[in-house]
Formats: sequence, C-alpha cells, structure tokens
Amino acid sequence: MAILVTGGCGYIGSHTVVELIKNGYDTVIVDNLYNSDISALDNIQKITGVKPVFYECDIRDKDGLDKIFTENEIEAVIHFAGLKAVGESVAKPLMYYENNVGGTVTLVQSMLEHGVKKIVFSSSATVYGDPDRVPITEDCSLHPTNPYGNTKYMVEMILRDVCVSDPEFSATLLRYFNPIGAHESGLIGEKPNGIPNNLMPRIIRVAKGEAEAITVFGKDYPTPDGTGVRDYIHVVDLAEGHIKALRAAKAGAKEYNLGTGTGYSVLDIINAFEKASGIKIKTLDCPRRPGDIATCYSDPSAAEKELGWKATKTLDEMCVSSWNFAKDK
Ligand code: NAD
Ligand code: WQD
Repeated sequence: MAILVTGGCGYIGSHTVVELIKNGYDTVIVDNLYNSDISALDNIQKITGVKPVFYECDIRDKDGLDKIFTENEIEAVIHFAGLKAVGESVAKPLMYYENNVGGTVTLVQSMLEHGVKKIVFSSSATVYGDPDRVPITEDCSLHPTNPYGNTKYMVEMILRDVCVSDPEFSATLLRYFNPIGAHESGLIGEKPNGIPNNLMPRIIRVAKGEAEAITVFGKDYPTPDGTGVRDYIHVVDLAEGHIKALRAAKAGAKEYNLGTGTGYSVLDIINAFEKASGIKIKTLDCPRRPGDIATCYSDPSAAEKELGWKATKTLDEMCVSSWNFAKDK
C-alpha cells in the first residue's frame, strides 16, 4: 500500500515525501510540474535512497488519476497540488477556482471510485482572514479575504460534505501558518518562479544581490516594533505533521493548525537571517501592503494533543537552512 502525494514535487510536498519514505511508507507522486521541477525526484532519492513512483499528470485529468489509482494500491492521499499566489488569485480568480477547487473535486471523485477514503489536505491560515483573536484556535471564525483563501475554505467545506455523505471517509484539514526553511541537505527547498511575494524568498534575493533592499511593508502596525507579525514554521516540522496526521486520521473531518505558536515580526526575521547568513540585508520602509493584517499566529495545542505533533525547530534553523538551500541556486 502506498501514499499518493499530489503536488509532491513542490516545496512542502517534496519535504513530506522525504519524511514519508523515512517513516517506511511507499510513495506515489502526481504533479503537473506547473510550479516545480522533475529534479525534485532525484534529490528525494539522494536524501532517502528511494526514488518515488512519479506520474506527470494534472489532478483535473480524471482518466490520468484513474490510471494511477488502478496501477497502484493507494491507502491514502496527501493533497498539496494547487496554486498559492494570493495576488495572482485576485487577478485570475477562475484559474484558482478551476485548479484548486475543480482539481480537488476530480481527485476525490477518483478516490471514491477506487475505494480510497483517507485524505490529508493542505489548507492554510489564510482561511481565518483577519483573525478574531490571537493566538488563533481552530474554532475562530473563517472569513478568507481573497480568491486563493476562498479556494481553501471551499475545499474544506467540500471535504466536510463528503465525510457527511460517507461515514467511512476521513479528511484531515491542516491549516499551515508561514512555512520557511529547507531540508538540511540543501537539496530540496523553495524555488519560487519569477519575483517572489513571500518574505523569506524576498530576503534571499537581497542576500544574493538580485535585489537592492527588502521592502518592509508597514512600520505602523500595532505590534511591538510596528511591523507585521507571523507564525513562521520550519518546512521539515510541517512535513512531520503530515505523518502524524496520517497516523491519527479517523473517519470524519477534522481541522488542525500547524504552526509554532510564536509570532515573529518582519524585523525579527531580517535580523535572524542576517545572523544566520552573516550578510547585511538592506531595508526600505514602504507603505503597508494592501490586504495584509497586523498579527497572525497559531495556538497549535490541538495538533499536539490529538496528533502528538509539535514544531521543534528554531528560527535560527529556519534561516540557516533557507540560506543553505538558496545560496548557490
Ligand atoms: P508549490 O507550488 O511548491 O507546490 C504545489 C505543487 O502542486 C507544485 O509542484 C505544482 O506543480 C503542483 N500542482 C499545482 N497544480 C496542479 C495540478 N492541477 N495538478 C497537478 N499538480 C499541480 O507550493 P507549496 O508551497 O509546496 O504548497 C503546497 C500546498 O500547501 C498548496 O496547496 C498551498 O496552497 C498550501 N499552502 C502553502 C503555504 C505556503 O506558504 N507555501 C501556506 C499554506 C498552505
Ligand atoms: C509575511 C510578512 C508582510 C514581503 C502569505 C499568504 C498566506 C500563506 C503564506 C499560503 C507580512 C511582510 C513581506 C516583503 C514585507 N500562503 N513582508 N516585505 O502575507 O503572511 O502570507 O503566505 O497559504 O495565504 O497570504 O506571508 O511572507 O508574504 O508576508 O514586509 O517584501 O512579511 O507584510 O507582514 P503572508 P508573506
């Protein structure tokens, strides 16, 4: 029996495949390589000694998925495949609904037809929008503020409805906070296409001399140093959370925050990166980025209590590994 990993060549998916293999699981990856590279497979093999079975296929391709489920004995699906750029989702909403929502519907149809009844889904803290309170618990209200966030919210609802319709179906909805960092080998990590939007890849561009300065979006937030506060989590901790979720999964739908529970500001991250890399990062004070919120960090205690999972890696480890991966790419 194997775990089917959709989007397994991507950033979080590739780290999770490594952890799955380390934990003795057989893995099958389906990815259309829209935002990743086939070299991820060789790198997973270099780290683990095992090359996962791979299908280059879009999750909206029902026949392609049926072939995968027919050719492999799949016990569960970890579903990462999706588009994730907030700004792009505002400009191209239908592309996001078609890929993230439509793709999931096709995937779950194929799962059900092949008797596969367990899914672990990549949701996001973005479903909380501007949160009711911090730290955010899973029962905070859900009000995403952009099409990307809406797709995550809609897929959560779809998976809940499938669980109601089929009492044996299990859906674990993992709401990630801000993943950064890379595998310690430096072989896999985040490789954004084009100019990145997220803080860590943008700091890295400055460190590599590809940009002059990091734009600090707002210094007037009601936070200790005036800059935005987020819950950054090491991608390897996040990957381990999927193994725990897979093991603990029960019939029905259940959501968990995957974060550290600690908030760091933009300036905290820049300072930590400077310390980890030994490189001075020039900053440029800019107005707030539209749509940003002041503070967002998790209460991850439900995942600790019910999944037996807790993030353990420090901010220094996140910065060191991010730079170790990116510096010579
Ligand atoms: P990523 O872009 O690196 O990985 C996604 C993978 O899915 C890529 O390899 C891409 O080629 C593939 N893919 C996209 N659409 C596909 C399709 N229709 N069929 C087959 N493959 C397809 O992104 P990531 O950072 O690894 O994120 C993984 C998941 O986690 C996404 O669903 C994302 O929305 C979610 N998530 C990410 C973050 C983050 O900040 N990185 C935070 C919260 C949630
Ligand atoms: C972090 C902080 C910025 C860039 C996004 C998505 C979210 C999730 C993770 C997928 C904020 C500040 C950033 C820069 C800056 N993805 N910043 N200068 O916005 O918390 O979350 O990625 O689900 O859905 O919305 O992450 O890394 O873009 O920003 O000052 O050049 O860094 O204002 O305070 P964000 P981010």
